[in-house]
Amino acid sequence: MNTFVFQSPTKVCFGEYLSATAFEVAKDMGAERPLIITDKFLVASGILEPLLNGVRDGGVEPIIFSDVPPDSDVESVNRAAQFGLEQACDAIIAVGGGSVMDTAKAANICLSLGGDLLDYQGLNNIEDPLRPLVAIPTTAGTGSEVSFVAMIKDSAEHRKLVFGSRHLAPNVAILDPVLLISLPPKLTAATGLDALTHGLEALVATVTNSAVSDALAIESARLIFEYLPRATSNGDDMEARSATLVASTMAGIAFSNSGVGIIHALAHATGARFNTHHGITNAVYLPHGMRFNLEYSNAIYGRAARALGFSSSMDDNEASEALVKAVERLLKEVGLPTELKQLGVPEMNEEELQEWVNLVVEDPAIIFNPREASVEDIIGIYKRAY
Ligand SMILES: NC(=O)c1ccc[n+]([C@@H]2O[C@H](COP(=O)([O-])OP(=O)(O)OC[C@H]3O[C@@H](n4cnc5c(N)ncnc54)[C@H](O)[C@@H]3O)[C@@H](O)[C@H]2O)c1
Ligand SMILES: [Fe+2]
Repeated sequence: MNTFVFQSPTKVCFGEYLSATAFEVAKDMGAERPLIITDKFLVASGILEPLLNGVRDGGVEPIIFSDVPPDSDVESVNRAAQFGLEQACDAIIAVGGGSVMDTAKAANICLSLGGDLLDYQGLNNIEDPLRPLVAIPTTAGTGSEVSFVAMIKDSAEHRKLVFGSRHLAPNVAILDPVLLISLPPKLTAATGLDALTHGLEALVATVTNSAVSDALAIESARLIFEYLPRATSNGDDMEARSATLVASTMAGIAFSNSGVGIIHALAHATGARFNTHHGITNAVYLPHGMRFNLEYSNAIYGRAARALGFSSSMDDNEASEALVKAVERLLKEVGLPTELKQLGVPEMNEEELQEWVNLVVEDPAIIFNPREASVEDIIGIYKRAY
């Protein structure tokens, strides 16, 4: 067996209505004035009330920063950190989708260590522990509640910046499926496909392959295949909401240890350039990226296909093709688009395509892809996905 390191420092708590305990959880880590980072829609929807009442019951008036847009950017992070400093906050409770959680993780860098956020971008540039962070996802997709990364948009440059460090892993993740009831079908499907992409890319990525990470990725994929259609067609189905939420966290732990690959690199570049949603963009690229990697990853994909019941063939090529076909069926079943043009991505001329390819090539996710991709390969995948 290969040498490997596996770590997952985040304490994970799952339960209906558990978001009400967030303040207690922060207090247990020594916090007295946690900053709650969320978005305007979630505040207006009322689903944060149990959490906010928990804070009030603890004798504190909630300190809320809710100015986080989807695909949050450097400016939003700086505003959140500035507000936290002004309010003398000593911890963060992030409650929202990946955009909110990533904003909170990046704002925590500035709040805890000071200085310019951009000085910390890249991998392993944060050397000290940050303030306590409790992450509460309201989408089941990104895994940011357990991951070591935050993806923040540089709006001026149309690119996604990566901040990656084990210090970015939240201290506690509270998984409360009740918060997901209001998530509309399209976002449920899109975020579920983000989680599936995390699991399927983690299985083949090259950071550290370990049986521990593979087990999480395969079980996460099983839960998504089984429950995402139910969560998408009936948002009140608590069993399905719970299963997809846990699956997303498991995939987050898997990819934090094993990495993602070319599908994420393509999705990051496309999302940054054309403002497409991260999960939907991954969904479109997923079958194409899997086929591109197939001959380098057929052993593990074949094993996954057999474990998930999509094939009984001992021929890895045949079995891994069955896995790709199962992904294509799932995309149809949950009603997601399968072509980039359906996402509003315009046709690029040669010069634009070249600029966009540079974003893909420079994305840190591509380093961990099992097969090296040339510029022609990337353009080929893009054209097949278009
Ligand atoms: N840090 C990581 O490990 C990681 C991994 C994958 C993706 N990401 C990042 O996460 C972001 C995407 O996050 P996302 O897919 O969760 O979407 P999101 O956070 O951008 O949210 C999308 C929309 O859904 C709404 N929403 C959230 N929860 C809701 C609920 N329960 N009910 C109704 N509406 C709700 C939000 O208000 C928002 O308008 C991207 O920026 C992506 O790059 C980060
Ligand atoms: Fe992702």
